[in-house]
This record gives sequence, structure tokens and C-alpha cells, in this order.
Amino acid sequence: RDDESIDLREHIRGIPDFPKPGILFYDISTLLRHGPAWSAAMARLGRAIRPHRPDLLAGIESRGFLIAAPLALELGLGFIMLRKRGKLPGETVGLDYALEYGTDRIEMQADAVEPGQRVVLLDDLLATGGTMAAGVRLLRQAGAVVPAVAALIELTFLEGRARLDVPCETLLRYDS
Ligand code: PRP
Ligand code: MG
Repeated sequence: RDDESIDLREHIRGIPDFPKPGILFYDISTLLRHGPAWSAAMARLGRAIRPHRPDLLAGIESRGFLIAAPLALELGLGFIMLRKRGKLPGETVGLDYALEYGTDRIEMQADAVEPGQRVVLLDDLLATGGTMAAGVRLLRQAGAVVPAVAALIELTFLEGRARLDVPCETLLRYDS
């Protein structure tokens, strides 16, 4: 299901001045709605993360779910959700983290992972790395081992990778 002639870059569009003036937004909608490109992206990301031998995949609400859930199916693994505050029932563990303006909070169910399980964390995009770094810390707080993280897109000029203490697999890198 990976048509190697597909250049994923041709299926991501950059939309200027969204959500604010001066920001170039890398939109994955055009990739999602193209079956063969979407399938190729998942197959390629699957190949990148398989060597890290995950027991489970985790995704960060909301666009991270679009990556992690299909990839979990692709690899025959379970999937767990890292969600924004107040969305998950039962006992949860959470972590507050700093944003450019203010703070945010992500939460997961306290029993989502067994101690020592290997969980690879996924998101659609690595920008400053704040979201991914918070996700890694939260998973560890819940008892997981995080052998790697992965994203479809990396904005290398924001140096998010420097905020991570685990390998980060990305398929498409943009330097501006
Ligand atoms: C975006 C993107 C990543 C995060 C990356 O999510 O989907 O999760 O920002 O930024 P960072 O590396 O600087 O932390 P957003 O918070 O816009 O929400 P969404 O996924 O619900 O659309
Ligand atoms: Mg997001």
C-alpha cells in the first residue's frame, strides 16, 4: 500500500497567515483526503517506528489521533489517547505545560499503560516541541518507557527536536 512514486510533499499545502499573520500553516487535510498518499504516509511512518519495538502507540489530541490510530492498526498495536483537560473519564494523570502564551494541560487515563510498556508517541507535526516533550513526560509519569516519538512533519527551524530526549522520526522536514 506504499506507492513509492508518491511524493508526500506534493500532498501537504502551506497556507500563509493562518492562524495568525506571518505564520505559514502546513495543512495535512489534502494528504488525508488522498487515499494512496495517506496510505503511503502511514506505511512509511510505520516502517520508521517499527524498529523502536513499541507495545502501544499514543496520540496527542487532536491531530495526533489522525496519525496514531491508523498507524496502530497498521502495526497491529493498541492505541492510547493523550487528551486536553477534562475529557477523559475515570482516574487520570495530567501535566501542565507552557505554551507561547499561557499554559495548557494534557491528561491520560492512569491505567492506560502497564509499568515498563514501550509506548511510541505520535503527533502530526513537531514545531517548538513543547507538546511532544510534555507528552513524553506524561507517559513516563504513567509508567511507560518511551523509546521514540514520531511526526509526519517537522519544522526544523523551530528546533523542537532539541527539547526531546528521545529519538524523533519525521517524514517531511521544512526549514522555513
Ligand atoms: C499543533 C500540532 C501539534 C502542536 C505542535 O496542535 O498538531 O500538536 O501544535 O506544536 P509545538 O511543537 O510547538 O508544541 P494544536 O495545539 O494546534 O491542536 P490540534 O492538534 O488540536 O489541532
Ligand atoms: Mg496538535
